[in-house]
Amino acid sequence: MAAPMSATNPFLNFPFGSVQMECDARDLIVEGEIPADLCGSLYRAGPNQRFNPRGDYHLFMGDGMVHAFHIKDGKVDYNNRWVRTNKWKLEDREGRTLINPLNPFECDPQYTDFVFTDKDGTANTAIVWHGGRLLVMEEGHPPFELDPTTLESIGSWNFRGKLNTAMTAHPKVDPVTGEMVFFAYMATGPFAADVMVHKVNPEGILTESTLIPTPYSAMVHDFIVTENYIVIPVMPITGSLERAMEGGPPFAWEPEKGVFLGVMPRHGGTAENIRWVEMDLGFAFHFMNGYDKDGVITADACQLEAAPLFPTADGKSTPRSAPQLTRWTIDMNAAEPRAVFKRIDEFESEFPQCDPRYTGKEYRHGWYTSPDGELYSGSNELDKFYNVVGHVDHETGEVDRYSCGQAMPSEAIFVPASKDASEGEGYLLTVVTSFETRTSSLYIFNALKLSDGPLAKVHLSHRVPAGFHGGWRPGN
Ligand SMILES: [Fe+2]
Repeated sequence: MAAPMSATNPFLNFPFGSVQMECDARDLIVEGEIPADLCGSLYRAGPNQRFNPRGDYHLFMGDGMVHAFHIKDGKVDYNNRWVRTNKWKLEDREGRTLINPLNPFECDPQYTDFVFTDKDGTANTAIVWHGGRLLVMEEGHPPFELDPTTLESIGSWNFRGKLNTAMTAHPKVDPVTGEMVFFAYMATGPFAADVMVHKVNPEGILTESTLIPTPYSAMVHDFIVTENYIVIPVMPITGSLERAMEGGPPFAWEPEKGVFLGVMPRHGGTAENIRWVEMDLGFAFHFMNGYDKDGVITADACQLEAAPLFPTADGKSTPRSAPQLTRWTIDMNAAEPRAVFKRIDEFESEFPQCDPRYTGKEYRHGWYTSPDGELYSGSNELDKFYNVVGHVDHETGEVDRYSCGQAMPSEAIFVPASKDASEGEGYLLTVVTSFETRTSSLYIFNALKLSDGPLAKVHLSHRVPAGFHGGWRPGN
């Protein structure tokens, strides 16, 4: 008999709490009209804890579940599956939680070593379709492959034995060449001060791995790939085994360490020709896009003043700050390049996206999620849930916003109307959870006319728990 979960941990309760089922739903109810040219699968990844967790539950440690909306000929089918990781399978057999993936000391004593040797992780963060494989990622481990239609677990994927590190949840796929570039931080071992950059060709063959020492051991969530540069942003969420052994936090916000952007030539880059460019203090989980022109690198980040979710080195909580879209500029023509930044708009925002055909290229259109202040967290009045999807036109500076009211949208994914459509011409897809009905619906917008409201709402009779990232696989 499975034990009840905590009623007070916010991440084990609505809207984050898990759904305890897997299903296949055919031909969902559609309000409005699905665009006839929209064909493919939208995937969502997130934590969906199976059993009452061991120790303090953090959202990052929940068992991964993937949800898929398969769209074709104006109809939508849906399915969801837990990812059958090693942890999931062991616990499924026992009917209880054995492992705390973030803390070996909180595992069942028989499984203390599991955390150090496991290759699957929790597979709960993001999805990419590349080289004919659907990969679900969680930055501490290699990716895990799923069947793109049934979501059946295929297993950990190490690129035919060539990947010996983890894989970021934010790989970049070059829209022209089809190459996928990704990295792993702490590449040579726990708390190592290095990253490994990997390149995978369009056929899914890992072709190049480059080890780069970093100024200090840092957690690096996302990065920037332009036509000519790879930028590794080392921002001060530091990792320290010594600190952990002394009872302090293994990962902590240490602003005095400074911000260093590792700028490496994308083609022929090595640890020798990387340049570490300094920037004033800031922190970003995610980048909307980045590009280079005449030796000047531009990148757009959802930037905060301090990293949320991590304590300071002495265990205190970090000051609250809100992410806002901010443009970074690095002039690599300068003798001593230094990155500068400037806020783009007035709104708080996260989960930035661009038209994937413009990844790494000069671009005009971006999208994000944002709060309008009307949807409050029940547990903390200062915490505003995000209830808005926004479009930013970098050319005109205009921002177009749509509020979902008492409902929370997931990260919104852009899908072009056709291969030849102009930049931004297409659809924005987001899974919206109503705080009134506690069910979720897929909203499909004209991506350049968000404030007109969704073209279609596709209703589920259950909820997709608030999760992290999604992905799109084009249909045919
Ligand atoms: Fe992320």
